[in-house]
Amino acid sequence: MVIRSEALGCGAYLPERVLTNQELATLVDTSDEWIRARTGIIERRIAAEGELTSDLAVKASEAALAASGVTPDEVDLIVLATATPDYTFPSTATTVQARLGMDHGAAFDVQAVCSGFIYALATADNFIRAGQAGTALVIGAETFSRILDWTDRGTCVLFGDGAGALVIRGAECPGASSDRGVLSTHLHSDGRQRDLLYVDGGPSSTQTVGHLRMEGREVFRHAVTNLAAVVNEALVANGLEPDDIDWLVPHQANQRILDATARKLGMPAERVISTVARHANTSAASVPLALAEAVEDGRIKRGDLLLLEAMGGGFTWGASLLRW
Ligand code: UT7
Repeated sequence: MVIRSEALGCGAYLPERVLTNQELATLVDTSDEWIRARTGIIERRIAAEGELTSDLAVKASEAALAASGVTPDEVDLIVLATATPDYTFPSTATTVQARLGMDHGAAFDVQAVCSGFIYALATADNFIRAGQAGTALVIGAETFSRILDWTDRGTCVLFGDGAGALVIRGAECPGASSDRGVLSTHLHSDGRQRDLLYVDGGPSSTQTVGHLRMEGREVFRHAVTNLAAVVNEALVANGLEPDDIDWLVPHQANQRILDATARKLGMPAERVISTVARHANTSAASVPLALAEAVEDGRIKRGDLLLLEAMGGGFTWGASLLRW
């Protein structure tokens, strides 16, 4: 028998304010046609003034706990992925811990930008399998609208705000690929690619928050290559074939990247969860937002095999196989 991290339930939260492509076209030299054709994005959500990453994270966490039938008393680990924390410190995770009324366990943030949720899931899964945590709340939460250069049409049209959360708990399993829970996680990074996607500010360098900078075309090229490789690595590690996957739950950066990854796997579009049209790229929140939507609407069912994957600044990228 082995310990695996079983998924108990998930939840999501999106800010109320919808920003459409048409509205963006009044701010920068762009058009609804260009954004749709190049990215698949139609609209995105923007956090209200004073609405913080932790506010989104708390709402997503409460939804995930309710869906799981778990109380905050039972959680002993919070891992929150974000590149847009409320403050430089303390971590947004400890703010969420306090707001959930918890006075026990450990809470910390992980920083892997758009791959953040895969990194957070891998971290929590390893804590659980090592016996250092029993029940973990894994969160991806972002307010990317706060680090966008709203005069740069090459980036400001691509991102949005939101949060998603997942509750996982250690359980004894036979150790087969038919087990429920996290079957494996696979993480990679390559710091040499830093200049293709970064924020030009920070506490130690400029003492400012900075703005997101990206060489979109180059990031696109790397994303397609790296995602295909890590997805394949996850399948090989578990002796599984693309046909065994019920749902691809990808990071939502660009519909063309989703399509390219699905095509390489030979997966039909009907088995790919896509929220990019309505959420745009919510960085670390995008995978749990997509997961929560597909669980909520009944597409993802107990026992389904999910392939989660993401790629982001760093570069960082990763994948996880999770049987729901
Ligand atoms: O989350 C992980 C990180 N992010 C990503 O994975 C994003 C990866 N990259 C992408 O999704 C795409 O590269 C973009 C959507 C950013 C850009 O699409 P593209 O097909 O690679 O376009 P491009 O950068 O090659 O630009 C094509 C043209 C350029 O004009 P010229 O040089 O051909 O005259 C741009 O200036 O489109 C222009 N352009 C725009 N036009 C209208 C760039 N942004 C816009 C815009 N509206 N918003």
